[in-house]
Amino acid sequence: MKFFIDGADIAEIKALCAMGVVDGVTTNPSIIAKTGRNFQEVIGEICDITSGPVSAEVAATDAKTMILEGKHLAKIAKNVCIKVPLTEEGLKACYALRQEDIMVNVTLCFSSVQALMAAKAGATFISPFIGRLDDIGHDGMQLIEDICQIYSNYPDLTTEVLAASVRHPLHVKQVAEIGAHVVTAPANVIRGLINHPLTDKGLDIFLKDWAKTGQSIL
Ligand code: E4P
Repeated sequence: MKFFIDGADIAEIKALCAMGVVDGVTTNPSIIAKTGRNFQEVIGEICDITSGPVSAEVAATDAKTMILEGKHLAKIAKNVCIKVPLTEEGLKACYALRQEDIMVNVTLCFSSVQALMAAKAGATFISPFIGRLDDIGHDGMQLIEDICQIYSNYPDLTTEVLAASVRHPLHVKQVAEIGAHVVTAPANVIRGLINHPLTDKGLDIFLKDWAKTGQSIL
């Protein structure tokens, strides 16, 4: 399973990439707004850190402008993936950008039939939002399962399921059990997959016992 970082904190992206656990990055306008920085500069810096897909979202809502914005953003680096919303105009832009061999991530997906249409439009990735469905009392994980099931019925559909709006490590575990191609999660959730109190406790004991030996390895 591929892991993307959902965020734009350069230091966090560098730190997690150094562990070899990152295959790409996703951003959205809210994430970019939080940085207080220039959008295209941030995307350029992220693309210098990882060679995996880096999602950059268009701001327009009409296909013509989305295509122009997408082509413009795609010039930043060859691993930029253009994010478009799952609307009729978004799918038009997706189809057009894919003709130019530009990667497209179709975002804000909340139903399996929407995901089917994004795949028909040639999306590189479909981003179903788990947490936002859970927030309104729906079953976000069921959506991931439904999309994976539908896509697997049609091997000619090459769109990868990118599980998004991931809020905690259990979401990641469930997505992996279902077999989604990619999960995008904030850095704190990825760190939550690594850290364990018993690991910290065990290491502390080992270090204290090692000190008692008075030895050094180097
Ligand atoms: C994914 O690409 C989205 O940016 C993200 O996962 C949204 O997550 P949120 O619902 O926690 O804002």
